Amino acid sequence: MTPPHTPHTLAVLGLGRMGAALASRLAAQGWDVVGWTRSGRASAALTVTGDPGAAVAKADLVLLSLFDGAACRQVLDAVRGSLRTDTVVLNTSTIAPAEAARLARRIGPSYVHAPVLGSVPAATAGTLRILAATGQDTLDRVRPVLEALGTVRRVDDASTAAALKLVANHSLAGAVLAVRDSLRQADALGLPRAEVLDVLELGQPGGLVARKRPFLTDPPSAGAAEFTLGALAKDMALLAAASNTPLRGAAGLGDTPAGPEADIAVAATVPGVEDAVLEPLHAYVRGHATGDPAHFRDAFLPTAHIEGVREGAFVSWRLDEYCALFTGRPAADEPARSRRVDAVDVHGTVATATMTLSHGADTFTDLFLLARAGDGCWRIANKAYHRHS
Ligand SMILES: NC(=O)c1ccc[n+]([C@@H]2O[C@H](COP(=O)([O-])OP(=O)(O)OC[C@H]3O[C@@H](n4cnc5c(N)ncnc54)[C@H](OP(=O)(O)O)[C@@H]3O)[C@@H](O)[C@H]2O)c1
Repeated sequence: MTPPHTPHTLAVLGLGRMGAALASRLAAQGWDVVGWTRSGRASAALTVTGDPGAAVAKADLVLLSLFDGAACRQVLDAVRGSLRTDTVVLNTSTIAPAEAARLARRIGPSYVHAPVLGSVPAATAGTLRILAATGQDTLDRVRPVLEALGTVRRVDDASTAAALKLVANHSLAGAVLAVRDSLRQADALGLPRAEVLDVLELGQPGGLVARKRPFLTDPPSAGAAEFTLGALAKDMALLAAASNTPLRGAAGLGDTPAGPEADIAVAATVPGVEDAVLEPLHAYVRGHATGDPAHFRDAFLPTAHIEGVREGAFVSWRLDEYCALFTGRPAADEPARSRRVDAVDVHGTVATATMTLSHGADTFTDLFLLARAGDGCWRIANKAYHRHS
């Protein structure tokens, strides 16, 4: 039995990727749905209006699926005067915890903050995971609508629901980056993409690889983006600002050459760093392998400093002083030494890199700051190192 005052007429504000899928799902499940979106885009499967106030005035429930907190504020300000006092506002948008708390305070007990886990296919199939923050009475009223869209998990308050959603998206970003690194390693080994994807589907990021496989094949066989890199980058920026804690790799997702309108899975297929960034690092390795300082002069900018702690004292060598440490001959134990590049992050004309050098009993971690110099070539601008005893 449905509880009293169950919504019948729904207004969906925002008919982007998710909003269109949510509205179509609810209409297909028998609700009377009218949609509005800023661009005025029509939809074959939906009744749409150009007047959000008119849509809201008739609605028992107003569902928001808008890009960000600013859009939620602007749209709610515009329709506020048309909202009936008993109309529930169900906000599925991914926004900052503080923004969600502000909206909950402004709208009052009829506000449900309900960010969703899952993308367009899950919205279409009614298999989303919904984090719903509201009082029990309002939750009872909207439960039939929420259960038409997926599984409901009640959360204490709007701020917590928004924060949990951002943390969930951080793990999604991490999974995309893990798949990207696996595909890069597989490409470097010359492995066939289809076989690699088969095996990745069996492992830890298997669910993501299975869902996103059409975007990951070579060439891709996917159509339109379901969840954009721009939206995920927005979420990571919100998370970093709210937590005040570094994001590591996820911070750079939005900078991938695929562009903000590409699906998040495309970030897993973009090529690795350009070879040109690796050239000074390879020259640096040759310097150590041969003991010939000419390679260090190729690798570093002449203004570079090399810094670290040596025998308990901080040293800061100019390049000439550093080169003078090398004799022009390889170390006696060179055949047993090894060096590897662990990470390179490029940000336009600057980059950072980390290397590990195993030199006999010593292991060094070298951190590099690189710059693309005026001649278009990359050089090491500075190096700092730590010697592990
Ligand atoms: N796509 C997913 O898989 C997914 C999954 C979970 C959660 N989410 C979240 O759900 C929300 C919608 O995502 P989406 O993928 O559907 O994004 P989208 O395709 O980019 O759609 C964004 C919607 O917001 C509207 N909009 C943007 N700025 C606006 C403004 N200033 N005023 C009024 N309307 C504005 C757009 O209107 P017009 O296009 O008509 O201009 C469009 O309807 C986002 O918060 C996203 O983070 C997305």
